[in-house]
Amino acid sequence: MKKHPIVIAIDGTSASGKSTNAKLAARALGYVYVDTGAMYRTLAWYCLVKHVDVNDEKAVANACRRWKTKLECAEVNGLRCVRLLTDDYFPEKEIRMPQTAAAVAQVAAVPKVREWMKKTQRDCIQFGDLVMEGRDIGTNVFPETDYKFYLDATLAERTARRTADGVNENLAARDQRDSQRAVAPLMIALGAKVINNSSMTSEQTSALLMEEIRKMMAAEKR
Ligand code: DC
Repeated sequence: MKKHPIVIAIDGTSASGKSTNAKLAARALGYVYVDTGAMYRTLAWYCLVKHVDVNDEKAVANACRRWKTKLECAEVNGLRCVRLLTDDYFPEKEIRMPQTAAAVAQVAAVPKVREWMKKTQRDCIQFGDLVMEGRDIGTNVFPETDYKFYLDATLAERTARRTADGVNENLAARDQRDSQRAVAPLMIALGAKVINNSSMTSEQTSALLMEEIRKMMAAEKR
């Protein structure tokens, strides 16, 4: 029996292929794609715009409380995506800027922020079946889902991928912040299917992911 709605949780390290594969899976299944990293990035951007010191936990928590947001489900290039709007605006380009990337892990470590994000991300279920990517979806946001994946690759491989995309980022530092924070750190959820794609092509990774999802779905029907 299909449990309604289904959430496919895709967690993993930075540059492990989460976005590409989560989008592919959402397209193939006709599910709604949710990029939770973009939500944390949007708060980091908002703090920068409002001159909030991202290293001041209380100030970030206050900014999060004052933040005027709305969830929308938009169709982007044929893919249904959830977007978090700030005053009706989605800062698509701004959240990918280096200044935002450098501030996001600090913002994401604030307990009040994580509480707010968990509630908001769970609210996305209003849009239907989801493929949600992040760092704590299987462990914290939707721990009840049966569809949990954890993508990873070696640091050297992930750094090479980011460099090939023209992005120069200290992934080791980001990994460390993400996995060592006190609240909802990056870790493998109990029962998650781990896909280490260091020596796999993007096509091989998505084929394996889809095969696993279909197997899980078939097992649910039995
Ligand atoms: O996936 P990304 O690079 O856009 O994520 C941006 C940051 O947000 C990253 O430092 C980890 C954090 N994040 C998180 O803590 N929890 C999530 N569910 C998603 C992202």
